[in-house]
Amino acid sequence: MRILGIESSADETSAAIVEDGKILLSNVIASSLDLHTAFGGIVPEIAARSHIESIIPVIDQALREAFDAKSQRPKAKSNTKKLSALSIKPSAYWDQIDAVAVTYGPGLLGSLLIGVLTARTLAIAKNKPLYAINHVEAHVYANFLTEKANSSQLKAYSLSNKQPKFPILALIVSGGHSQLVLFKNHFDYKVLGQTSDDAVGEAFDKVAKMLGLPYPGGPSVAEAAKNGNPQSVKLPNAKLDSPYNFSFSGLKTAVLRAAQKLAGKDYTLPSSQLPTLLTTAQKNNLAASFQNTAIQTLVKATLCAYQEFKPKSVVIAGGVAASQELRRQLSASLPIKIEYADIKLCTDNAAMIATLGYYQASHGRPTADPYSLEADSGLQM
Ligand code: KG4
Ligand code: ZN
Repeated sequence: MRILGIESSADETSAAIVEDGKILLSNVIASSLDLHTAFGGIVPEIAARSHIESIIPVIDQALREAFDAKSQRPKAKSNTKKLSALSIKPSAYWDQIDAVAVTYGPGLLGSLLIGVLTARTLAIAKNKPLYAINHVEAHVYANFLTEKANSSQLKAYSLSNKQPKFPILALIVSGGHSQLVLFKNHFDYKVLGQTSDDAVGEAFDKVAKMLGLPYPGGPSVAEAAKNGNPQSVKLPNAKLDSPYNFSFSGLKTAVLRAAQKLAGKDYTLPSSQLPTLLTTAQKNNLAASFQNTAIQTLVKATLCAYQEFKPKSVVIAGGVAASQELRRQLSASLPIKIEYADIKLCTDNAAMIATLGYYQASHGRPTADPYSLEADSGLQM
């Protein structure tokens, strides 16, 4: 069974084709990231406009890459750049697609709308079942991809050769979410804990902005942290009622106060003025101390859940799962090998959407009504 996945919840427009919930045939990602960097975060209107421009060419390219590579057919003549909303070609590719899966939440409403409306239209026009996918849940399913087509576009993807085993303890950490979830089986899961304020990725992004480091903050803070001392700045760990809940907003403020102090100023100094008053060494130390504290919080909660629930697999998913330091500290703390996907499948992508779509279809989950499916920006797991 082959599923076309469509993702547009934030700044990545992506389409992918996955076979039987484990074989990656294509995964095309167009990011509007460059347009947002000047603003230090995603600008929703710019993201939505970019999705409108990219979505049809991206879907078209995902179909071509999947089936041209597989069938060795010559490339179709039409130029992707000239495609309009009415010219998805060649239609023969659609015979090979069994269903369409689309992210319907959570995310930016204007961005979600583009993916949802495109998927609804295609499901009706091509007469395919439609599956509505929760983006956060889908992040975990990137770990179910174990094989890939032999195409040049997928050459750089490194996949694990085995799927995670239930029960799976999943730490889902991204720019919008931080959750610890126990999956007893597909669609049988319990959210053990979550952030009570900011997501961890969001904290990385805000700390980067404070230190004058580029967006997205995860990779830039990690880079600065390499040259800093993680013990140099004492930062607090939030005390919460449950060992599985997190809080990152106090930590973020503590970084701001420490930075103001290092700059020789008090709390009245606007954070926008900080980068010019801090030395590179101070920025590196702040980045390293923040990263270490944030990761320790995640590791502590994951270890505690591991000891209580004894899962067969521990998976990290979402954009922050790309963090080498998180991978290193978790690996050092847990008695079993942690599992994570290729970096290109940790950050937002449609392959994870198509993969979860397959498990919905194969487990007889209800299809969505293509005439009425609505985007749900606040969707919860
Ligand atoms: O999953 P994702 O692509 O989008 C959301 O669903 O939010 O995650 C994006 C987040 C950003 O906040 C980014 O700073 C963070 O993932 N991120 C990282 C790293 N790479 C991306 N955080 C820490 N370390 C990284 N290497
Ligand atoms: Zn995401």
